[in-house]
Amino acid sequence: MTLLMAIESSCDETAVCLMDDAGRVHAHALYSQVSTHAPYGGVVPELAARSHTEHLDILVTQALNEAGVTLRDIDIFAATTMPGLMGGLIVGATFAKTLAMLHQKRFLAVHHLQAHALSVRWEHPVDFPYLLLLVSGGHCQLIRVQGLDSSILLGETLDDAAGEAFDKAARLLSLGFPGGPAIEQAAAQGDPEKYPFEIPLKNQKTGFAFSFSGLKTALAQRLAQWPQPLSPQDRHDLAASFQMAVAQHLIRVCARAFAMPDSPKTLVVAGGVAANATLRAGLQDMAQRHNGTFIAPRPDICTDNAIMIAWAAWERLRQNPLASDPLTSPLKPRDAFVESPTS
Ligand code: KG4
Ligand code: ZN
Repeated sequence: MTLLMAIESSCDETAVCLMDDAGRVHAHALYSQVSTHAPYGGVVPELAARSHTEHLDILVTQALNEAGVTLRDIDIFAATTMPGLMGGLIVGATFAKTLAMLHQKRFLAVHHLQAHALSVRWEHPVDFPYLLLLVSGGHCQLIRVQGLDSSILLGETLDDAAGEAFDKAARLLSLGFPGGPAIEQAAAQGDPEKYPFEIPLKNQKTGFAFSFSGLKTALAQRLAQWPQPLSPQDRHDLAASFQMAVAQHLIRVCARAFAMPDSPKTLVVAGGVAANATLRAGLQDMAQRHNGTFIAPRPDICTDNAIMIAWAAWERLRQNPLASDPLTSPLKPRDAFVESPTS
């Protein structure tokens, strides 16, 4: 058995996973910094980096204890090296590189978005190619995943990311941070048809673009003109209506891609927003109507975690058992793993 340790620290989750070559998780230790950032209504990069520093060695020890192994039993060290907040990437990747150097083991650099894109394959036997809706705090992209090293960008957001839209709407509705889960919770008690929002880019005929800034502005304008203080029920109804508009927009764009004659017949969703139950149910319905298949990772695999980082490393090792990256591998705050069809 070969054992790999993977570290995720690109945003506001610090996580460590121990996974073997059969994809079996021996330990997964995760610390979410939500309470650190909540008072600011968004992730504060400096605080995130400090928190990774404070928690990473504790989580590594916790993971080793949970698996009943020591650092000497780890054969390969992997970490997210791009994209993400630079401070966090430095903490996690330097930790993994240092352990690899000390124990004279291999280091593997993992692309965070590619890890989201492949995460579904950890538990489900999904073949390439598949359509991927990648919806996170920083991204909203529709991608054709053709293989480990080949993904084509079909369309992306013209403005905000899907998670960013939820986070901004939650702030406007004073629902707290992170916005996605807060909106989903409030929406569960609301009527999605009470205050309908116009679905963005409704008349888009070609391309697969997304847009969310108009929805956010529409919500802000409604709130500015609200005749009396918002009641809890108003807040729930607005959250439900907003969530419905975001989900409908995402679903409509995916439906158009699905209807293309050369489209793969499997649709996969990934990224934090993919944890949203209304979105998942809507995508499932739509895929069925198109005689296709919809497959989603477990909600806890959709939000940031180290299982997907370990899995992405193993996908690469399965293709090339000798894969290894230099300790000088660069850390990059931005990087696309997709090719655009025109490039
Ligand atoms: O993938 P992720 O954990 O971190 C990034 O790489 O960005 O995504 C975080 C984003 C946040 O914007 C959060 O509000 C959103 O995902 N999110 C959700 C849900 N859970 C997290 N959005 C909608 N519904 C959810 N249940
Ligand atoms: Zn992510």
